[in-house]
Amino acid sequence: MSAVRSLSKTKKKITLKDLQNKKISGNQIFALTAYDYSLAKVLDASGVDLILVGDSLGIVMLGYETTLSVTMEEMLHHCKAVARGAQHSFLVGDMPFLSYQVDVHEAVRNAGRFLSEAGMNSVKVEGGVQISATVKAIVRAGIPVMGHIGLMPQSVHKIGGYGVQGNTASKARSLLEDALALEEAGCFAIVLESVPTRVARLITERLNIPTVGIGAGPGCDGQILVTYDLLGLFDSFTPKFVKQYANLREVITKAIEQYICDVRDSKFPDQEHSSSISDVEWRLLLDNLNDNGL
Ligand code: KIV
Repeated sequence: MSAVRSLSKTKKKITLKDLQNKKISGNQIFALTAYDYSLAKVLDASGVDLILVGDSLGIVMLGYETTLSVTMEEMLHHCKAVARGAQHSFLVGDMPFLSYQVDVHEAVRNAGRFLSEAGMNSVKVEGGVQISATVKAIVRAGIPVMGHIGLMPQSVHKIGGYGVQGNTASKARSLLEDALALEEAGCFAIVLESVPTRVARLITERLNIPTVGIGAGPGCDGQILVTYDLLGLFDSFTPKFVKQYANLREVITKAIEQYICDVRDSKFPDQEHSSSISDVEWRLLLDNLNDNGL
């Protein structure tokens, strides 16, 4: 039995307590994104603690230019698929643009749908001090919330691009204030995206809840990447902080080219990949067609 398969049989479901214990014990949280059943199954069996169904799926899966076009229905659709594939990892559903910013009641109702309809264990929202009341209300409804500050892709037009955040003393201070407000509001963890290493480390040290970094250096309590970036499957743009662990685009391209050659040269399908009918049944069929003038 492969190591991955045996792990999937023995591992228990990751809980909020496990994530918190990782911070306390100084063990890193392993987090990645997934948008579909098959990839979720692989991540889950590989020992990923936390799977985020990120709204980055709008760009990576659906081909939108930004995450702003992603809808609740699209998020729920992909969350359901991931929930069917993951048994052990803690699951976070990303709340899309305008699903939590307009009205607190609507935010609670939408957050609840990620748990009741889509099988998620929690939700993620972008924003700091200004959304702390919304976070409080969602947490009060019994729904765990992950915060997300620093580079917030849903605010790309306000921020003016996808650059590093918190790189001046005053901006770094307001990031810390955002983080403290989210912790106070009840978040179980906070994503720090595109934040200088020293700032991310300082925020991590000041918080009791874990931080999960993406482009925020090694001082966080855990790391997350968009899995398609890590695997080299998405190449429209690659942020500086992405480390590519494989080049699946190349692997897939080679496989597809080979498939095309084999079909063109009648090498596929061969006998091994085809099914047969017995000689007796074949004879019967031919006789039958003959008898009926077909
Ligand atoms: O949407 C997403 O995938 C994210 C991660 C980059 C943290 O928010």
